[in-house]
Amino acid sequence: MTKKFHHLTLLLLLLPTLSLSLCRNFCGNMGIKYPFGIDDGCGAPQFSKMLNCSTDLFFQTPSGNYKVQSIDYDKKSLIIYDPAMSTCSILQPHHDFVMTEIQYALIPPSPDTVFALLNCSIDSPVLNHYKSLCFNFSGHSCDELYGACTAFRLFHLLSNTTPPCCFTGYNTVKYMTMDILDCSHYTSMYNVDALKGVGPLDWLYGMKLSYSVPDTGCDQCSKSGGTCGFDVETKGMLCICSTTVNSTRECAAGSVTATGEAHMLSTLLQTLVLLFVATYCMIL
Ligand SMILES: *[C@@H]1O[C@H](CO)[C@@H](O)[C@H](O)[C@H]1NC(C)=O
Ligand SMILES: *[C@@H]1O[C@H](CO)[C@@H](O)[C@H](O)[C@H]1NC(C)=O
Ligand SMILES: *[C@@H]1O[C@H](CO)[C@@H](O)[C@H](O)[C@H]1NC(C)=O
Ligand SMILES: *[C@@H]1O[C@H](CO)[C@@H](O)[C@H](O)[C@H]1NC(C)=O
Repeated sequence: MTKKFHHLTLLLLLLPTLSLSLCRNFCGNMGIKYPFGIDDGCGAPQFSKMLNCSTDLFFQTPSGNYKVQSIDYDKKSLIIYDPAMSTCSILQPHHDFVMTEIQYALIPPSPDTVFALLNCSIDSPVLNHYKSLCFNFSGHSCDELYGACTAFRLFHLLSNTTPPCCFTGYNTVKYMTMDILDCSHYTSMYNVDALKGVGPLDWLYGMKLSYSVPDTGCDQCSKSGGTCGFDVETKGMLCICSTTVNSTRECAAGSVTATGEAHMLSTLLQTLVLLFVATYCMIL
């Protein structure tokens, strides 16, 4: 009896050490690469805690979690979508889009992301003193939005006028909240340069963020087969080679365990151990 107990304890103690905690390089089917990371100490320190991989991949800001639709590592951009935002087909209560100063510095909305401020009051700053902040993009006017979108037709129906609106850049909403702007709703579109002659029903709703990658020598680490990360305390760069080996610059030959393989291996080992424990218990 005591012997059996000892064996079981030993096995249970071994279990956690088998789950290798390297940097996950996928969240669902979305690839996670430098400078991003979803585990502590992975990616670039400046970008840590920006992404959250719960059910899906989310971009975390002070105003909420925005679903990441895609990441383009070559063009250094990512597309995010606020599920609570109004679009052509759905009207939802507005809230401000707020980023931290670090996010604004490292990963701001791209110039080809446009915000449409809708149902603005005639006292709105963007219709008066700050009129110059509004522009037409790719030949489109706000009237088109009110006309083509079921969600926005409501403004017209309820007031029997065409309430003013404004297409503007992110800086406008960064420096003025929706309350100051005095517009009841907003929506945002990206890749606007490609939307010439395209109707509002087919615009791309969401935001494109453009990031820059800090040059900390990650290339050298990646080329040696490692994953770029950092020391959680000092924030100094680390090249993660395997669960047992970290280096400051690059991995020595033979020290690398690919993350994907390590994960598969660890899952396989865990399954085997569990099977073994189960069999062991049944036999005794
Ligand atoms: C290597 O770095 C990772 C990420 O910072 C850390 O979790 C891990 O404990 C480090 N491993 C060693 C052996 O120092
Ligand atoms: C990650 O995002 C989800 C979805 O918005 C949220 O429910 C969850 O609390 C977040 N997790 C963390 C650790 O912030
Ligand atoms: C449009 O804005 C006015 C205030 O300017 C507000 O009273 C009204 O409810 C808004 N319309 C909708 C449909 O939210
Ligand atoms: C935007 O388009 C509308 C309608 O086509 C036009 O009346 C207005 O003058 C244009 N505004 C600018 C700033 O070009």
